[in-house]
Amino acid sequence: MTNTNTSVTTPVSSSSLPTVDHSKYRLVELTDIKEIEQCHTRNYVEWAGGLTVDQYLQREKGVFAILAKYGFSLTYWALQEKSDSGDWITVSACESVCRPALYKVKGKPVNDTISHSIGSVFTPKENRGKGYAKIMMILLAERLHSWKTEGLSEEQINNSIIALWSDVGLFYGLFGYELTDAEEIKISPDYKSETVSGSAASIPEGVELLSSSEEIAKLVAQDEAYMVKRIDEQTEQDGSPRAIIAPRAGVFEHTFWRSRYIGRYLNKTDEKEPSVFGARVNGSWMLWNQDYGSKKLYGQRIFTDRSKYTSNEEIVRDIIKLIQAAVIETKKWNLPYLCIWTSDLPEGIDGDAIVSAYESTANPEPIVKWQRPGSLPMYHTSGTRKNLKWVFDGKYAWF
Ligand SMILES: CC(C)(COP(=O)(O)OP(=O)(O)OC[C@H]1O[C@@H](n2cnc3c(N)ncnc32)[C@H](O)[C@@H]1OP(=O)(O)O)[C@@H](O)C(=O)NCCC(=O)NCCS
Repeated sequence: MTNTNTSVTTPVSSSSLPTVDHSKYRLVELTDIKEIEQCHTRNYVEWAGGLTVDQYLQREKGVFAILAKYGFSLTYWALQEKSDSGDWITVSACESVCRPALYKVKGKPVNDTISHSIGSVFTPKENRGKGYAKIMMILLAERLHSWKTEGLSEEQINNSIIALWSDVGLFYGLFGYELTDAEEIKISPDYKSETVSGSAASIPEGVELLSSSEEIAKLVAQDEAYMVKRIDEQTEQDGSPRAIIAPRAGVFEHTFWRSRYIGRYLNKTDEKEPSVFGARVNGSWMLWNQDYGSKKLYGQRIFTDRSKYTSNEEIVRDIIKLIQAAVIETKKWNLPYLCIWTSDLPEGIDGDAIVSAYESTANPEPIVKWQRPGSLPMYHTSGTRKNLKWVFDGKYAWF
């Protein structure tokens, strides 16, 4: 079943953007642990997803540590306003993580760069509607284009990207962020039915579950090599520069870490922490994570080695097997939804084809392809590389 909600594509006008008075506002990097904890204690209401304040504060420390372990640096930002007494008061806050990216311009080999992903944009309730988030986003875009750029050439900096996942429609369009693709396949297992449905009763034949970090690291390296090859070919063909957030092991391990940590506190099942993060069959694999906060099993990435197949039908058949394995994992944790962003499907495999193939299996769960209203991938490029496209913009890159 396909259901398209087009409301997210309503354009936004930048006419309401304030001019920043630099004597009154400043964007600062927070490094003091107490100040960072204060921000988290305030934004707890929005993103704790059922954790206590202490568990949430520990989770945020853990996120910092796991990102650092893989060499990704997390920065805490605060917009501060000068009070009448001359003190600088934090009025809005957010975070950004710097992770490796790759870009391609025609005539040159694919090269390294960086990406910044923005998250946790938050203005406390009492400060909302005063233009603080707008001022912060204006200052942040300026700052991030030269943040963590030591050792990079001008070309590398010009081909870096800033990404975010908006839960507030096209708000970020005001600051030049462009929407990519917000289509999603959503399966809602029917927990009421007495019989466990046939298509999701047992792991399909030939499917192997994935839980070893070493194994997953090998698979994502294969994916990165594929992405590099594709942007190289596509940009040579059409001349349009492209960038990707590198799908390094740490990008995935960060989400697995969150699943394990949150599972410990929120799972009502005997088994607390998940250990299975994907499945493989023939030349295809899928990675996922259990998001117990938003109560979804998220597909992180689906990969197909086309050299192992002779037709799209064969590929779709294997992807359906992977989805069936993911449905079992969804049910195991009693999660209401399995969500797969269409941008994480292998190239050339259409979301509608997946939906109709799944619907034609024995006893499928309810499935829909729709334009989700939240977590909208948006990106910003440096002023000098306006035509740079962010591609492979899937869930794996989410922050
Ligand atoms: C979104 C948020 C950061 C805005 O902060 P703010 O300081 O009040 O924002 P500003 O005053 O600068 O701008 C207000 C604008 O926010 C936008 N906005 C706020 N909430 C929105 C929502 N839920 N959907 C769409 N736009 C929204 C509107 O465009 C509004 O503009 P307007 O006043 O011209 O109508 C704040 O509402 C918040 O912290 N919300 C909860 C956390 C959250 O959802 N963060 C975003 C995660 S991507």
